[in-house]
Amino acid sequence: MSSSRCSVVVLISGNGSNLQALIDCSKHANFVISAVVSNRADAYGLVRAKAEQIPTIVLDHQRFPDRLAFDTQLIQEIDKFNPRLLVLAGFMRILSEKFIQHYNGKVINIHPSLLPGYRGTNTHQRVLDAGEKVHGVSVHFVTEELDGGPVILQATVTIEKADTASMLEEKIHRQEHQIYPEVVTLFADNRLQMKDNRAWLDERLLPQHGYREQTPS
Ligand code: GRF
Repeated sequence: MSSSRCSVVVLISGNGSNLQALIDCSKHANFVISAVVSNRADAYGLVRAKAEQIPTIVLDHQRFPDRLAFDTQLIQEIDKFNPRLLVLAGFMRILSEKFIQHYNGKVINIHPSLLPGYRGTNTHQRVLDAGEKVHGVSVHFVTEELDGGPVILQATVTIEKADTASMLEEKIHRQEHQIYPEVVTLFADNRLQMKDNRAWLDERLLPQHGYREQTPS
């Protein structure tokens, strides 16, 4: 482990199970979670962060007149920690152009679908309603296009006949907790980059679905 670990700020709005997976991984990886930011004071992820003595910031978006005012304050708070990477882990806010440009190439998100399919919310139910046989999750760089940035890694899950949306959510979470720490570790080790709106690993351009062959689990 190098002496200068990659500083990561994690943004959440809720339970924070992905945050927990990242906290656990950070104990033996080349990154440190410098702060956790939530737009909701009741996010359980804040409890997880405090239990590990990670600084927390609550910025309630409802107290700001508009998205730009909120994002401007968000940038100020985040920059105090001088992060190399921002990790969106269930952060339920659309980020402004200003925010994305400020951190260009330094923000990643995890989205519960096989992008470019099923952008937006309620993905598990929509996948079931469409009669899909395979579902999945994507880690991607964040760009101004909502859920549209270049994919770094995807994991798939097989949809069984009896699966409900909440069963799918659980299956997806199990995959998320594996792949998100893996991607953050790669970034911390300087192996991952966004260039020309594409994702690169070890200086190689990644295919549209990211760096791993997809085999349904
Ligand atoms: C995850 O399913 C992630 O894909 C989505 O939000 C959810 C966050 O879950 N972006 P948690 O708060 O990490 O448990």
